[in-house]
Amino acid sequence: MRVQLIGLGSIGKNLLKLINEKGSMIRQEIGEKIEVVSVSDTTGTVITDGMPLTTIIQAKEGGGLRTLESFEKISALSAISDLESDIVVEITQSTKDGRPGISHVLKAFENEKGVVTANKSVLVSDVDLIGTAREMKMSLRYEATVCGGLPVFNLMDYCMKPAKIVSVDGIFNATSTFVISQMELGKTQMSARAEASRLGIAEKDQRDDLAGIDSARKGTILHRRIFGSDANIKDARIEAKESEVAVGVRQVTEVNSAGVTVEYRKIDGKGIYSNAVGPAMVIRFNTDVMNHITLFTDHDGPMESAATVLNDILLSRSTKVT
Ligand SMILES: NC(=O)c1ccc[n+]([C@@H]2O[C@H](COP(=O)([O-])OP(=O)(O)OC[C@H]3O[C@@H](n4cnc5c(N)ncnc54)[C@H](OP(=O)(O)O)[C@@H]3O)[C@@H](O)[C@H]2O)c1
Repeated sequence: MRVQLIGLGSIGKNLLKLINEKGSMIRQEIGEKIEVVSVSDTTGTVITDGMPLTTIIQAKEGGGLRTLESFEKISALSAISDLESDIVVEITQSTKDGRPGISHVLKAFENEKGVVTANKSVLVSDVDLIGTAREMKMSLRYEATVCGGLPVFNLMDYCMKPAKIVSVDGIFNATSTFVISQMELGKTQMSARAEASRLGIAEKDQRDDLAGIDSARKGTILHRRIFGSDANIKDARIEAKESEVAVGVRQVTEVNSAGVTVEYRKIDGKGIYSNAVGPAMVIRFNTDVMNHITLFTDHDGPMESAATVLNDILLSRSTKVT
């Protein structure tokens, strides 16, 4: 199975490590290996031609991809058009307008390639990529976009069919939980934020995490999916403010038929939100016939999301259409 990687940041590097380490599991699952054909970042593209994936990771962590002999100054868009592959993995950073991610996904579909993405911003803009994928009969998998390593869409798709989801609530942003719980341990906000970036859990612009934008993106993806809406990130009620980051609160997102709300709420030492300490995440589905189903992780980061992306790549093999 031939895969092109667009974006080699926190998730991309962990994904290469996993593909390298999990070779026998991959063969067992899909009957062949995953061949990473090319890797692109903002500087250009490496055409791997069988090169060890560890060499690519080392180059990225050293002098950059351009230090590799097979580096070419071609953009991700050209790499998607010019090189043969089955799946494009789009893991560039989330942005205000979803670009360049949206262009990468559309270019992949144009070239009859399936897409796996962890990039939330491509799913909450003016372009309906899920609808486009259906119309074009192309595979688009996006499990890691909402709550990283937690199996949100697979749970909905395979375990909750009889249930009507009335609402969803939770702590969808691990960085805010991490920063606040570090402050609860006596650390300064500045040092906690620096640590969140070092761990690779934070968005490129941490205001996206702490001012509720990242959570609103996730809430909007859920709203579209659960209520069949065309909700846009601009419709979300984001009441969380960076200045409210303080000991004793958590950033809570609620999704119901009326829309998406993100706000900081005081926690009282009881209940699931009070257990969210460190890079933790919670998502609770409130349903008619399956009561409340809650997923919780005490650690969500780039490795967990990379594992989810790898799971999506493996699932893309067996399902052609979303
Ligand atoms: N980190 C997490 O735990 C997590 C969890 C779930 C979902 N996500 C989402 O997953 C995506 C990736 O996250 P991340 O943490 O890996 O991001 P990241 O560390 O910021 O890496 C982003 C990568 O995208 C590359 N890039 C940007 N524009 C590009 C372009 N035009 N062409 C080719 N490459 C381009 C960057 O290149 P350079 O290296 O040259 O700058 C960088 O390698 C984001 O959308 C994020 O919201 C992240």
